[in-house]
Amino acid sequence: MSSTNYTSLSYSLPFHFNEPSLTFSWIGFTLLAILLSYGAFVILKPDPYAHIPAVGGSGIISAYHTAKRFYNHSNELIVAGYDNYKDRIYRIPSKDRWQVIVSRPDQIEELRKAPDDVLSFKDFVDQTLFIKYLMGRTIVANEYHIGVVRSQLTKNLSVLFDDLREEIQSAFDDIIPQTDDWVSIHAYSKIAEIVARASNRIFVGVPICREPEYLKVNIDFTMSISKSRNRLIRTPAFLRPLVARYLTTVSESITIAAKYLGPIIQERQAKIDEHGQDYPEKPVDLLSWLMEDASNEQRTVTQLTNRILSLNFAAIHTSSMTFTHTLYHLAAEPHYLQPMREEIESVIAQEGWTKIAMTKMHKLDSFLKESLRYNGISFVSLNRIALKDFTFSDGTFIPKGTFISAAAQSIHHDEEKYPDSEKFDGFRFANIRTQDGYNTTNQFVNTSPDYIPFGHGKHACPGRFFAANELKAMMAYLVLNYDIKMKNEGVRPKNLSIAMSCPPDITASVMFRRRQL
Ligand code: HEM
Ligand SMILES: *[C@@H]1O[C@H](CO)[C@@H](O)[C@H](O)[C@H]1NC(C)=O
Ligand SMILES: *[C@@H]1O[C@H](CO)[C@@H](O)[C@H](O)[C@H]1NC(C)=O
Ligand SMILES: *[C@@H]1O[C@H](CO)[C@@H](O)[C@H](O)[C@H]1NC(C)=O
Ligand SMILES: *[C@@H]1O[C@H](CO)[C@@H](O)[C@H](O)[C@H]1NC(C)=O
Repeated sequence: MSSTNYTSLSYSLPFHFNEPSLTFSWIGFTLLAILLSYGAFVILKPDPYAHIPAVGGSGIISAYHTAKRFYNHSNELIVAGYDNYKDRIYRIPSKDRWQVIVSRPDQIEELRKAPDDVLSFKDFVDQTLFIKYLMGRTIVANEYHIGVVRSQLTKNLSVLFDDLREEIQSAFDDIIPQTDDWVSIHAYSKIAEIVARASNRIFVGVPICREPEYLKVNIDFTMSISKSRNRLIRTPAFLRPLVARYLTTVSESITIAAKYLGPIIQERQAKIDEHGQDYPEKPVDLLSWLMEDASNEQRTVTQLTNRILSLNFAAIHTSSMTFTHTLYHLAAEPHYLQPMREEIESVIAQEGWTKIAMTKMHKLDSFLKESLRYNGISFVSLNRIALKDFTFSDGTFIPKGTFISAAAQSIHHDEEKYPDSEKFDGFRFANIRTQDGYNTTNQFVNTSPDYIPFGHGKHACPGRFFAANELKAMMAYLVLNYDIKMKNEGVRPKNLSIAMSCPPDITASVMFRRRQL
């Protein structure tokens, strides 16, 4: 078996569901044949997880029935484990494996502190998305772009804030025009366009951040990866490198994005060759920093385009889902508008539109933080694969190959941590902060074992400082310039539940009009 196949089939469940949206191809048949021959083998092997309590029971028949609920009810399985085995590590069956779940704060600390060669985030991403087949090995092997986001991008946020604000304003004005009559706006697609445009202003600058085809390819890239991944998952491992090249759409996306990025990369490289790294009028954007830090082999148009696409992959839908979840709360409960307007207007009067101003909008910060607590965008966080056997300090043994995650949603809805946790309380965190002198403990970007929508520890989202500034500037602009409501007044569109993710309703619309004073 290839070294990349950590979910050794002997740890898997002896069945495999066909995802509803997928066609059953010849590759599926091949895989099925292989799985069936392993099936008998699995039943005879001792269960390596026998010591870990299982939601829905550990027998093959009961696990099969429980796992069927995974597609659309994974959180119910996690919550059942959280309630039944409180404080113990437990497992839930998903379509093709057991998924180990931890929730106790000290165990989350152990999860985050475990070395990368024992509990690996990188391998989790690669195993679930097949990045190395779809985008090449270097994107996984060499992660210099993470340092660029964590360091240069985050440090330059105050310098870049004006550009960000300008792009947000022009994107809103183009995409959601201010009208005197109420108009119904399809929320998710419009928000994703605004987020993509604002983010790419900072990633690659004007005019590329306004090119419709470039934006579309970045917005659709997530779909392209996940469709391609679904094809690869039914391909035998040894055929994947070959099939990835012919059966997937990822390389087409790279070609389209490179059409826009190629010329500016070459132009910038020519200036670097002539004048050195600090050439006159060098643009202040993420592409410049990538080009500074890239090794020679990483400085090609294809490799740099790959990086930009990967960063858009990490940025666009995470931020758009977070904003849309928040927007639905605000539109369902527009009484939150007035207090936020007062706060935003008074802060802007003192500070102007600056990064400092964003840190002083405590109600706005709280509203976003509460929405990520209440909805999250995923039921789990701190996803890892065990590359070696690992033992938690309570003695729970985790065999090599295991998928482990933290029960984000259950933690965020724990009454002991968040009183009245089933209530959406937009100013929950702002109210706490009035007591503690507005220190940073309860601000949006802060993580702790009790607040993990951005993860926690060394892999905690490095883009969250950028995301927080972008989302706050977007929300502040929206709150000051529009009235919003739901067509069915007071009714918030229901969250979706797709495997481990919890997206907002991507089909719903929100009513917008120009703010009436
Ligand atoms: C509200 C929006 C966002 C949310 C909720 C979010 C959430 C997350 C989470 C949960 C992780 C994994 C942490 C872990 O498992 O410990 C992560 C990692 C990451 N995020 Fe974000 N993210 C957001 C926005 C962004 C943006 C805007 C960028 C880029 C500018 C970004 C770049 C990354 C990168 C590069 C990683 C990988 C870190 C690593 O491998 O160490 N994210 N994010
Ligand atoms: C912006 O990032 C660069 C790194 O390329 C750094 O040298 C510079 O100090 C940063 N600017 C600010 C204002 O921090
Ligand atoms: C999603 O929204 C529903 C109500 O629309 C709410 O009850 C629930 O707590 C939210 N979060 C999750 C994770 O489902
Ligand atoms: C900040 O506030 C938290 C409570 O929100 C408190 O536990 C912590 O001690 C405070 N830290 C400082 C430095 O005041
Ligand atoms: C159920 O899951 C499927 C994909 O597995 C998804 O397409 C569908 O939207 C989900 N339904 C809900 C209500 O979340």
